[in-house]
Amino acid sequence: MNEKLLEKIKRLKTERRAVILAHNYQPAEIQDLADFTGDSLDLSVRAAQTDADVIVFCGVKFMAETAVILSPQKTVLLPDKDAGCPLADTITAEQLRELKQKHLDASVVCYVNSPAEVKAESDYCCTSANAVKLVDSLPTDRPVIFVPDRHLGRFAAEKTGRELILWPGYCHVHVAITEDDIKNAKAKYPDAIVMAHPECTEPVKRLCDQILSTGQMLKFVAKENPKKYIIATEVGIIHALKKQNPQAEFFPASNRAVCPNMKKITLDKVANSLENMQHEVAVPDDIRIKAKKSLDRMIEVLPR
Ligand code: 13P
Ligand code: SF4
Repeated sequence: MNEKLLEKIKRLKTERRAVILAHNYQPAEIQDLADFTGDSLDLSVRAAQTDADVIVFCGVKFMAETAVILSPQKTVLLPDKDAGCPLADTITAEQLRELKQKHLDASVVCYVNSPAEVKAESDYCCTSANAVKLVDSLPTDRPVIFVPDRHLGRFAAEKTGRELILWPGYCHVHVAITEDDIKNAKAKYPDAIVMAHPECTEPVKRLCDQILSTGQMLKFVAKENPKKYIIATEVGIIHALKKQNPQAEFFPASNRAVCPNMKKITLDKVANSLENMQHEVAVPDDIRIKAKKSLDRMIEVLPR
């Protein structure tokens, strides 16, 4: 059954001159099908570089919008039009404009998990992979507004020693991982290294050994000898980790850490997307041009 569908996708991909990009949280079969998998920063860089005519973005809406902003001449398709990111939707451009009015001299950094309109209102964009480095590079004589994820913001503030003006947004998937989850996993696998995503809460992060983006987790494990890891982020990354490191063992800190939006993408929807050129993601020109400035800065700042 899947064989037929995979053949169809392969054929349509060639006909459309398309490339399939997938985030590390995608279902296993989508990661296996993709031409390229990665974290938000890796995928943005790849979307900006590809010479394909069509990008099928297996991820959530803000990621596909980012691809449109960086590669406006390409058609960017999101196989499920309702695959959104509730964290990104915790802030609107209007709300950010109001916040900027209260801090007129502030630099504005937005996490890439944000709507295109919010990126257009920001000076700099960042991902979880380069937030610390980006905040560290900002002039110290101006305050910094950081939106919308308060946990990534606190992490960047702590690492850089900067006081940031934070927006109270959060990711429901990551805040559902509790301190007890980490303590229980550590009791079960005492010799495992614990890796957490910066979107986790501060008490959870304090119990972990490494705070990393999903792409950084993959790079970290590739360089290490230990064979056991507890993973405090969305469970989809475990497929990528196992594939790359078949001899190591990976234990999810919580089986509840499943992003329902990331899991909306299926093989059927990818085939439909290529066949019917659906669902095209568009960003109005005025927003796109302004948002591109903050994104260009983001892809210049590679993580340490
Ligand atoms: P990464 O950039 O680390 O892949 O994270 C994206 C994301 O949506 C985290 O929830
Ligand atoms: Fe958004 Fe959280 Fe899902 Fe990432 S895991 S896409 S931040 S809801």
